[in-house]
Amino acid sequence: MVLPEEQARLFRPRPELLPAAHVPSLAHYQRLYQRSVEEPHEFWGDIAKEFYWKSQHTGPFLKYNFDVTKGKIFIEWMKGATTNICYNLLDRNVNEKKLGDKIAFYWEGNEPGDSVKITYRELLHRVCQFANVLHSQGVRKGDRVSIYLPMILELVVAMLACARIGALHSIVFAGFSADSLCERILDCGCSLLVTADAFYRGDKLVNLKQIADEALQKCKARGSPLKRCIVVKHLGREEIVDETCSKSPPPKRLCQEVQEKKTESSQKLHPKPPWDPAVDVWWHEQMSRASTECEPEWCDAEDGLFILYTSGSTGKPKGVLHTVGGYMLYAATSFKYVFDYQPEDVYWCTADIGWITGHSYLTYGPLANGATSVLFEGVPTYPDVGRMWSIVDKYKVTKFYTAPTAIRLLMKHGEEPVQKHSRKSLKVLGSVGEPINPEAWLWYYRVVGEERCPIVDTFWQTETGGHMLTPLPAATPMKPGSATLPFFGVVPAILNESGEELEGEAEGYLVFKQPWPGIMRSLYGQHQHFETTYFRKFPGYYVTGDGCRRDEDGYYWITGRIDDMLNVSGHLLSTAEVESALLEHRAVAEAAVVSHPHATKGQCLYCFVTLRDGHDFSKSLTEELRKQVRDKIGPIATPDYIQCAPSLPKTRSGKITRRILRKIATNDHDLGDISTLANPGIIKHLFNSRCDTKQ
Ligand code: WTA
Repeated sequence: MVLPEEQARLFRPRPELLPAAHVPSLAHYQRLYQRSVEEPHEFWGDIAKEFYWKSQHTGPFLKYNFDVTKGKIFIEWMKGATTNICYNLLDRNVNEKKLGDKIAFYWEGNEPGDSVKITYRELLHRVCQFANVLHSQGVRKGDRVSIYLPMILELVVAMLACARIGALHSIVFAGFSADSLCERILDCGCSLLVTADAFYRGDKLVNLKQIADEALQKCKARGSPLKRCIVVKHLGREEIVDETCSKSPPPKRLCQEVQEKKTESSQKLHPKPPWDPAVDVWWHEQMSRASTECEPEWCDAEDGLFILYTSGSTGKPKGVLHTVGGYMLYAATSFKYVFDYQPEDVYWCTADIGWITGHSYLTYGPLANGATSVLFEGVPTYPDVGRMWSIVDKYKVTKFYTAPTAIRLLMKHGEEPVQKHSRKSLKVLGSVGEPINPEAWLWYYRVVGEERCPIVDTFWQTETGGHMLTPLPAATPMKPGSATLPFFGVVPAILNESGEELEGEAEGYLVFKQPWPGIMRSLYGQHQHFETTYFRKFPGYYVTGDGCRRDEDGYYWITGRIDDMLNVSGHLLSTAEVESALLEHRAVAEAAVVSHPHATKGQCLYCFVTLRDGHDFSKSLTEELRKQVRDKIGPIATPDYIQCAPSLPKTRSGKITRRILRKIATNDHDLGDISTLANPGIIKHLFNSRCDTKQ
């Protein structure tokens, strides 16, 4: 229970954080913020000086057009300057800053005891090796490489190797299905795929190579140019030793320590992956032949760095494009200030690298700062619900960044599994991915952080590249559930339906008025769609798609998506995407999907389906439909509820009224005006046949 006075209470930063903090007071934040928005060239120009540029920019520092009525939307930061992000993250840290022996990552496997560490120097060598492998496979600057890997160090190596040679990586979350992978490979014309044999998530085996193979078959049938698949032997790592021990000297392996520890996972089942010798090559065989030196490709600040797909309200995922220079500045700067990064920190972001959080705050941001991070392969509940805190203690984690869904999940198991562990190393806690409800916030603050650690509730998007609204740990008084105030360079506004800016206390559409360096530059190959999605509704503004309230203190509170998207466990899904998966089943004539509140996941999927004649609604059909969605999109999209609807409520023009379906799903009879419906009679039936319990 959250008392109203607790919700309104300001939680002030603890004094012990202040002396060393980058921003030790609210007044200090306000000064920096003012400069960042009034003099963005100077503010970001000073930050840019902390990075290596092969050559300086030739034109203006920032050039942009945010107004679609005046022409094409474009954003250019430091165009003409050349650099390499991988060089800045690795070579400079090793050679100039003398961090070669510092740990870049502690890798913690799914099984406790399965762990490896890698220093900055080792990481640089591996990245150079893999960059050479990519070169030898014909990958060149501007090419796209698809990466479909679990949370293993090779994932970081592969992405940085792409960045080193100027190829764009497109990382596909390893929980996505073959169809999703295929669609993403085709959309950006990837020429090479990096994947792994298999992995365990908790006690569940995922035969990744088999799924990748299915995707490649589909891609081939649709004319994809992809001709090479590099496979990491992850579950079968021990076999590598057997295969190569006769050779002298043995090839360097990335994960030396794995073989030293007999892990449980090695005793688990790991079937041989399917293999096509014309396409597939082993990662370790390629690496053993590759040099540990590779000259970086000098890229324009505005050259593409990566593409990352995010759900679109049309149902087709959008390939968000980020570029080298601005993204580097923004990921590095936001990491430094938002987590108040200090050189002795051990930082842990639990997000998967397959999502933007893993890109910006597990890879690019921490490495740009020379930080030591934990990279965790497993899940919070395996082998028990204290896993997170045992990892925190094992590595003495100081800064910890996770999602509300994980917090709510752990909350269900009570305080005891948390309190069994010390957690005394923790200094700052972070939250990302969806609004954090005040109850979860307070539990995180009290139980996990023992009222010692500020919580940075960071609001941002795949499209924004980095944090937009967030407290700074030693500067911003916090309110449970509010993402508080804008980060440097960010100018938020709240608009009403007619596009007027609302002042003071207000609620409406959250938009941003001017570009920050980390903003996406386009949707890959679909610039017009980019303009329509983010700039058409309110010309002159970047439109987030989120609703937002500003309180009397000027604090921002995200109220959730206002488009046809929903957020399941911090992952955005579009209702259209799920509907189209359901519609592919032969029994389904019509489908409508709405979000439904869920205690742990935040939101879940409630689906209404109208069946074709000759099909009966049954338990087995429900299971088939669930599987259908899982196979098309991935396990995160598995519907919690599927209700049979003889027909769907529609307007006279034939539009399904999801507004009413949302009310039916939550058993809310306050329907408002239903006079525009063509078939109001169906509503009573749908209320009577609701799914009340999880099927
Ligand atoms: C939601 C994740 C409230 C929001 C980084 C946004 C949040 C979408 C928060 C982007 C937060 C993310 N408070 N809502 N702290 N963080 N969201 O692209 O709806 O996966 O538009 O990026 O998540 O999700 P995405």
